[in-house]
Amino acid sequence: MGPGDLKEILADLPLETDPNLLVGRETSDDAGVYKLREDLALIQTLDFFTPIVNDPYIFGQIAAVNALSDVYAMGGRPLTAMNIVCFPKKSLDKSVLKEILKGGLEKIHEAGALLVGGHSVDDVELKYGLSVTGIVHPDKVMTNAGARPGDHLILTKPIGTGIIATALKGKVASKEAEQAMIAVMVESNRVAAEVMQEIGAHGCTDITGFGLLGHALEMAVASKCRLVITSSQVPIIPFAREYAQMGLVPGGTHANRNYCHRSLEVDGAIPAYLLDILSDAQTSGGLLIALSADRAPLLLEKLHARGLSDASIIGEILDGSPGTITIR
Ligand code: CO
Ligand code: CO
Ligand code: CO
Repeated sequence: MGPGDLKEILADLPLETDPNLLVGRETSDDAGVYKLREDLALIQTLDFFTPIVNDPYIFGQIAAVNALSDVYAMGGRPLTAMNIVCFPKKSLDKSVLKEILKGGLEKIHEAGALLVGGHSVDDVELKYGLSVTGIVHPDKVMTNAGARPGDHLILTKPIGTGIIATALKGKVASKEAEQAMIAVMVESNRVAAEVMQEIGAHGCTDITGFGLLGHALEMAVASKCRLVITSSQVPIIPFAREYAQMGLVPGGTHANRNYCHRSLEVDGAIPAYLLDILSDAQTSGGLLIALSADRAPLLLEKLHARGLSDASIIGEILDGSPGTITIR
């Protein structure tokens, strides 16, 4: 489904209200958060999708890192995970599923979490993902509604996975491009989340299917402010620029661009292909973090020191025109 589809479908259903529900579905945040005690809240999230790489083990890793990421984006720590599997029993060998689950389990363990169960159904199309449960202190919950005017915006991973995956499907992508894309998608957001909690931030979301612009727009709407993105500062995976210029852009990316269109103010010098990259539907993307301008350089330094060398300050939060993005 495209951006906003599920939101539109759910719009008629009444919102949950409960004093312990800290984050529900009204702000399009990454996960739900429910307060158990004054010092403890539960984070719950679910993500699954069809393969984006041919190697089943790597697909399992990517799906797990992507699902765990929503807990990190809320400032939390994952505790347990459950597999969700749709598997075509007739057309695929069981060994494929075994490799997928092995890849997933490796990333669950890398996150310090436990696999506690799951469910599988027979389906014509293979899909895999996880439901993840985590915890966070109620005062340390990070949402996409927390950004404030004057904040700077940091993106922790480069973008362009959707474009490279499309080039790969079209048999255009180089081996190097494929490797670069995989390296981004299997990298956990754990370190980014730890550093974010250490330095302190105001708001956060992870960049996935709605692309950088779609998720940034959700932040602008939820935080009731204007985001300014400096396009030259946005980290981009090598080769994505080249493939975007060739028009190798997935349908989801076009949908994102159209969805964001009305809320964007774009500098005339920005080429169309760059807007495609900024809208590109990501799988297992990085964190977009809003924090006070004076702390942003320190966060960036710590991210670089801990190996997230592509992390970059990509923009800022301004007053006025809430729910809009300026791209310069
Ligand atoms: Co998310
Ligand atoms: Co998600
Ligand atoms: Co969040």
